[in-house]
Amino acid sequence: MNTLFHGKHFITEDDWTLGDLDTVFDTAFDLKRRFAMGEPHRLLPDKTLFMIFFEQSTRTRNSMEAGMTQLGGHAHDLTADKMQISHGESPKDTAIILSRMGHGIAVRNCFYGVGNEYLREMTRHARCPILSLQDDIYHPFQGLADMMTIFEHFGRNPKGLKVTISWAYAESHAKPLSVPQTQILLFPRYGLDVTVAHPAEFPLSADIVKKAEANARAGGGKLRFTTDMDEAVEGANIVIPKNWGGFGKWSVADYLKNETECKREMAASLATHKDWIFDRRRVGLADPNVKMMHALPADRGREVTDEVIDDERISIVFDEAENRLHTAKAIMGLTMGGRG
Ligand code: CP
Repeated sequence: MNTLFHGKHFITEDDWTLGDLDTVFDTAFDLKRRFAMGEPHRLLPDKTLFMIFFEQSTRTRNSMEAGMTQLGGHAHDLTADKMQISHGESPKDTAIILSRMGHGIAVRNCFYGVGNEYLREMTRHARCPILSLQDDIYHPFQGLADMMTIFEHFGRNPKGLKVTISWAYAESHAKPLSVPQTQILLFPRYGLDVTVAHPAEFPLSADIVKKAEANARAGGGKLRFTTDMDEAVEGANIVIPKNWGGFGKWSVADYLKNETECKREMAASLATHKDWIFDRRRVGLADPNVKMMHALPADRGREVTDEVIDDERISIVFDEAENRLHTAKAIMGLTMGGRG
């Protein structure tokens, strides 16, 4: 069990050992218990977190801001358009300046081919932890909440549990790859048996798949891919029906060079897969006690039917959303306070 986290960046769980993550989960469960008891837990009195959002957010923004308040500190809710970032101020200068004024910097930047590099550039110059609120590759806080929810419902040793991560149809927007990519990297480290289903035109990034396969070999988990949603759902203990854009089809350089054409191609492919929905029929293919998870927001009636997501015997999406708070507090408490 590691106890030295002060100043540690949190960009992906892949940079953290299982020992590190054990401490995070133990801390998150302890903070959840204290939250339930109404017991004060001001681990970060008078500390400041700067949050910079390049995109919209409900869960991430509020779990971090409420979390900082409950830990006795304060979070600045910033958006890139209201900062000098909009006039071209660099991630390097932004990181240096904010880390002179506060104790942590958290950023959401999901632009494909840009977001992760923006955060990595900040880590090279900040004097405080850089926390990813989601980028184009990873969504580490979501991964922690997902794993904590699995522990709650299936126990702390979920080895062999069958988890299906399925692409699903959506119209709201082409969702980033970061949620499924975080899940395939993290879940097999705990020995989970992961199946990913997606239409051929919506692959995940090849380099992440390769890393996830290595994680599965090291962790005793499994990872396999199929283009058949029904087959993927058969016998599953957990189903995660979630849209993502077809970004993984192109290299970053090709995508950025031909962005308009790539987006047109994605939209045309998307329209042919409206039947990729988690509905009552597909619940019937899964394990009789199947649970459904989703990072949210869900495209109701497209990714999943109302009937399924509102069925409390199946859906654990609101436990998952609440666990964003407890895991966020664990990471902030350990990296912004804690020992270094
Ligand atoms: N799951 C998630 O990151 O939700 P928000 O986009 O609302 O933060």
